[in-house]
Amino acid sequence: MSMHNDIESVLFSEEDIKETVQRLGKQISEEYRDKNLFLVTVLKGSLVFMADLMRAIDIHCSIDFLAVSSYGNGIKTSGEVQVIKDLTCPLHDKDVLIVEDILDSGVTLSYLIETFKARQPKSLRICTLLDKPANRRANVFADYIGMEVGDQFIVGYGLDYAEKYRNLPYIGVLKPEAYSS
Ligand code: IMP
Ligand code: MG
Repeated sequence: MSMHNDIESVLFSEEDIKETVQRLGKQISEEYRDKNLFLVTVLKGSLVFMADLMRAIDIHCSIDFLAVSSYGNGIKTSGEVQVIKDLTCPLHDKDVLIVEDILDSGVTLSYLIETFKARQPKSLRICTLLDKPANRRANVFADYIGMEVGDQFIVGYGLDYAEKYRNLPYIGVLKPEAYSS
């Protein structure tokens, strides 16, 4: 059966997402024009956003990836962040922009910010496609925000539930029965 059948409602369509990514890309391109832009992405959820965002940026940039885990297969954060795969490049003297899929409790990002600051980048900012302020536990603010979401669990465009639905081209809410299967 198609994964689309598990979706109760579409929150952001492909068109909504495209517009948002273009807007962010344009803004970043303008503000980093004379800088040494280094995009750092948190796998796996941010992979899809990163792939589109970097193509909406028209200045030189380089990229790197790291992977963290704080969720397991659940829908609530466990509050523990673990680096599963670290960056391969140094951050020293770079204008680092962290690219995130969603800023939820903020636990992941506050941990990353502390870790990255110690590596002495020239600057360090955050770009998140989605901001879920209702759930915030850490004192973290994004410099670039795509869209705001309420206190609900969403999937698609990189976001998963139990590693599924990352390949949905839009962002939506699951039907209750999809959680148990
Ligand atoms: P935080 O540490 O609570 O801010 O969690 C950030 C990470 O949790 C994101 O990068 C996502 O992988 C995951 N996450 C938070 N909210 C959702 C959601 O609604 N759907 C899917 N994943 C989510
Ligand atoms: Mg996840």
